[in-house]
Amino acid sequence: MSKAIEWEKLGFDYIKTDKRYISYWKDGAWDKGTLTEDNVLHISEGSTALHYGQQCFEGLKAYRTKDGSINLFRPDQNAQRMQRSCSRLLMPEVPTEKFIEACKEVVRANEKFVPPYGTGATLYLRPLVIGVGDNLGVHKAPEYIFTIFCSPVGAYFKGGLAPANFVVSDYDRAAPNGTGAAKVGGNYAASLMPGKNAQERQFADCIYLDPATHKKIEEVGAANFFGITKDDRFVTPYSPSILPSITKYSLLYLAEHRLGLEVEEGDVYIDQLDDFKEAGACGTAAVITPIGGIQTKEDFHVFYSETEVGPITRKLYDELCGIQFGDIEPPEDWIVQVTID
Ligand code: PLP
Ligand code: COI
Repeated sequence: MSKAIEWEKLGFDYIKTDKRYISYWKDGAWDKGTLTEDNVLHISEGSTALHYGQQCFEGLKAYRTKDGSINLFRPDQNAQRMQRSCSRLLMPEVPTEKFIEACKEVVRANEKFVPPYGTGATLYLRPLVIGVGDNLGVHKAPEYIFTIFCSPVGAYFKGGLAPANFVVSDYDRAAPNGTGAAKVGGNYAASLMPGKNAQERQFADCIYLDPATHKKIEEVGAANFFGITKDDRFVTPYSPSILPSITKYSLLYLAEHRLGLEVEEGDVYIDQLDDFKEAGACGTAAVITPIGGIQTKEDFHVFYSETEVGPITRKLYDELCGIQFGDIEPPEDWIVQVTID
């Protein structure tokens, strides 16, 4: 590291670390993969990833615990979601064991970039699969690259566990039977302009409604939505065009089994926000970001408060982060330790 990293001040930005993992798929099989210092990919100008968006990615974090060890949070779930994304775009799947081993190798090789316990920062891992090789027509690629790089990160939305405001977008990030449930770059390219428009209006990001009827909440930027109803139910939208968030499904479990709340995955109508006393955005990068208010076409709807965090949101945050950072007993198989030899 040329300059000491100020862990507490980290945002969500690219920092070049020492090593990344790279594996090539050719003639029907992945090679063993290797760590490299080179952070530049040399690929054919005909690569389908460049022309036709044949690529997908993942996001997960490594957490430093109080005793100095390092945890991965449910990496098997990221591996499985990446397999579904690959399958949707006709790309070869990365086996779960290869995926998790590669994550561990990247963390080990960049151990000095895993932020200290107590700083709130983590090491973000970004796995991706891209279609490469000479090609011109709209076909699947002849070859693929699976790579994982990492970067130390802090809060995705400014302020960490502080409420942020969002605005409903007229745009859609995904089509009803499109690729919304897959973590593919095209969904994010589609979200750049609506996201920029929202930020220019001083909102953290935008809320996407269901693309078929524009009546129900789907996503909060690059995070899922949850709300706590006035009668203490944890409610989160279900739709085939939402990215199935690993954080969201973890919170569903924790809300039910640790907080004793009723939980429900179903429709969340944008004209029924009054049902909720608290709301939040959840995801690997966003962790839990309390939603202060949502600007709809009609009005600005405030949930718990624009400046304070609701008590149930805080309990969910403490439980989730407690598990990730090793302070709270995890449900079975949620934590994978990275051993450093
Ligand atoms: N929704 C979108 C569009 C995302 O990009 C992400 C980030 O991965 C999420 C939701 C949250 O998913 P996860 O909790 O698995 O990180
Ligand atoms: C994540 O939460 O891991 C994401 O992928 C969100 C965003 C940075 C794309």
